[in-house]
Amino acid sequence: MLIRTKGEIPSSEITPKSVYMNRRKFMAAAAATGLAAVAGESASRLLRPSSAQAAEDKLTTVKSQYSTPGLTLTTFEDITHYNNFYEFGVNKDDPSKNAGRLKTRPWTIQVEGLVKQKKTFDIDTLLKMKPLEDRIYRFRCVEAWSMVIPWVGYSLSEFINACEPLPSAKYVQFISLADSKDELLPWNAGISWPYSEGLRMDEAMHPLTLLTFGLYGQALPNQDGAPVRVVVPWKYGFKSAKSIVKIKFVKNQPSTTWNDMSPNEYGFYSNVNPNRDHPRWSQKRERVIGAPIFRQLQPTLMFNGYGDQVASLYNGMNLIKEY
Ligand code: MTE
Repeated sequence: MLIRTKGEIPSSEITPKSVYMNRRKFMAAAAATGLAAVAGESASRLLRPSSAQAAEDKLTTVKSQYSTPGLTLTTFEDITHYNNFYEFGVNKDDPSKNAGRLKTRPWTIQVEGLVKQKKTFDIDTLLKMKPLEDRIYRFRCVEAWSMVIPWVGYSLSEFINACEPLPSAKYVQFISLADSKDELLPWNAGISWPYSEGLRMDEAMHPLTLLTFGLYGQALPNQDGAPVRVVVPWKYGFKSAKSIVKIKFVKNQPSTTWNDMSPNEYGFYSNVNPNRDHPRWSQKRERVIGAPIFRQLQPTLMFNGYGDQVASLYNGMNLIKEY
């Protein structure tokens, strides 16, 4: 994972070497497949959507009791141009340039594993399943930067109930899109696709865990994980899998992308915790993306500030050891 700002830790020191070294491969693959040409067009569309496009993408929302009050929002521009979406490149501005390639319709989520019966949900059915709420959350990346994002969605628990998991299901795994023909992902970044993440069942059922379809009142831009992702506001951002195509209910802790790659750096829980540094950098402070210079560095909050709501999920656990 990366930080590119001058004076901070260079990408090469934060990103696992295999990923960093693969940037060259990505550039070559992008050139070979014409990705760069497609990117220019889609990036400008996302930056300045035509009024027809903006109207089409607009979501009808209601207020939410779970929104975090009193925060200054990160701009739409920063939220959509400073991304981690390694399927589309390793630099922060790569996803906004390259994710136009992602086709978000038709789109389904398959439900598998320990469920009453396998099901497939169409994205447009999911969008209408419950009222979409505006939820402002703090968003904290493991790379020690943060944003405040007005997401749109409803509690993942609503969807999980519709999936009808069996009592034996203890964890849920989220699997992102990967094109078997490798057209979408002409490179591998040192990561074996599809991207996958997981939560314990009680974490997934917590009302703050959001099945997310949009931000700033409109459908998710591709680079932010269109058409549907998960957001877990008290955990580091990598727990929030984007562009989900499959959800699996399982008995044992599932394997997850970053934990598999570097288990001593990226734990399964990955709760935001200022007392548990990453082996290569401190987690005590965070850089607020887009904030005025004098307010850019702020202390990291335990559970990203959501401790009152979620700390009890971890009663009896040693959060330094089980990071
Ligand atoms: N999901 C997929 N499929 N691929 C990714 O590379 N990156 C993760 C997470 N979900 C990632 C992903 C990481 S490291 C972070 S910090 C957040 O997405 C970034 O979300 P954002 O770009 O919307 O801020």
